[in-house]
Amino acid sequence: LYLISGSAHTTLAQDIANYLGTSLIPIISKRFADGEIYVQIQESIRGGDVYLIQPTSYPVNDCLMELMIMIDACRRASARQITAVIPYSGYTRADRKVSGRESITAKLVANLITTAGADRVLAMDLHSAQVQGFFDIPLDHIYSTPVLLNYLQSKQLRDVVVVSPDIGGVGRARAFAKKFNDAPLAIVDKRRTAHNCAKVMNVIGDVKGKTAILVDDMIDTAGTITEAAKILRQEGARQVFACATHAVFSPPAIERLSSGCLEEVIVTNTIPIPEDKRFPQLTVVSVA
Ligand code: R5P
Repeated sequence: LYLISGSAHTTLAQDIANYLGTSLIPIISKRFADGEIYVQIQESIRGGDVYLIQPTSYPVNDCLMELMIMIDACRRASARQITAVIPYSGYTRADRKVSGRESITAKLVANLITTAGADRVLAMDLHSAQVQGFFDIPLDHIYSTPVLLNYLQSKQLRDVVVVSPDIGGVGRARAFAKKFNDAPLAIVDKRRTAHNCAKVMNVIGDVKGKTAILVDDMIDTAGTITEAAKILRQEGARQVFACATHAVFSPPAIERLSSGCLEEVIVTNTIPIPEDKRFPQLTVVSVA
């Protein structure tokens, strides 16, 4: 078994290697003057079962292209099986056409990864479960729920209500609530006015006097989660926690998340979080 990390998240890759009691196969990954990416695997992987660890996070296009070049390099180095381990999968939010003349990038990315030569994909908390079917190779869809739950349950919170910040996330929040001692569920009715622009309308369910835990797959600009937190407070929630697998944290996420509307923001390390994106209310749990 060979573990190889792209440049997207070497810390997570190293944590996975430590957890497995192995080491990463060294690679050279560098940029040519024109921005093209060069990859060379530094040891023989002939006949091996290779796991390439690369979230396609930031900058998404470079991470994705580097992943494909790594897959191609492994294929040409005669690896027996190549698994693309993609803890955060960029471009998968567009999983259908919402209006005319758009691309379905989730399908396009699935095609690209498959064509590059991956035999298998390991993905975590995809935006929608049906993206699994966009791949014609096996895809293992794993969840961060156990590590998030483990952390939250250690806090011994009382009168918990699990809240989905939008209708699309109800299945995810319901599954989370079930595992969280069968906690009740509430739903925020979010309406989008434009891309990256969330407008909250109202809350379905009882949150008065309760500890609300918002559950989402990702926090990008944090509009969804902070608008939801505000309306939960207006509806009488005592405290509001937010937890999400993927900390995309595009501007102005940090300003919004640290504005005080959330008691604590719990995310995982599927995406690297640099120091300048850390704030006092943030807790990061590891999915390694
Ligand atoms: C939307 O359907 C997703 O589950 C997230 O709620 C959304 O992508 C978060 O985006 P933002 O943080 O920019 O509101």
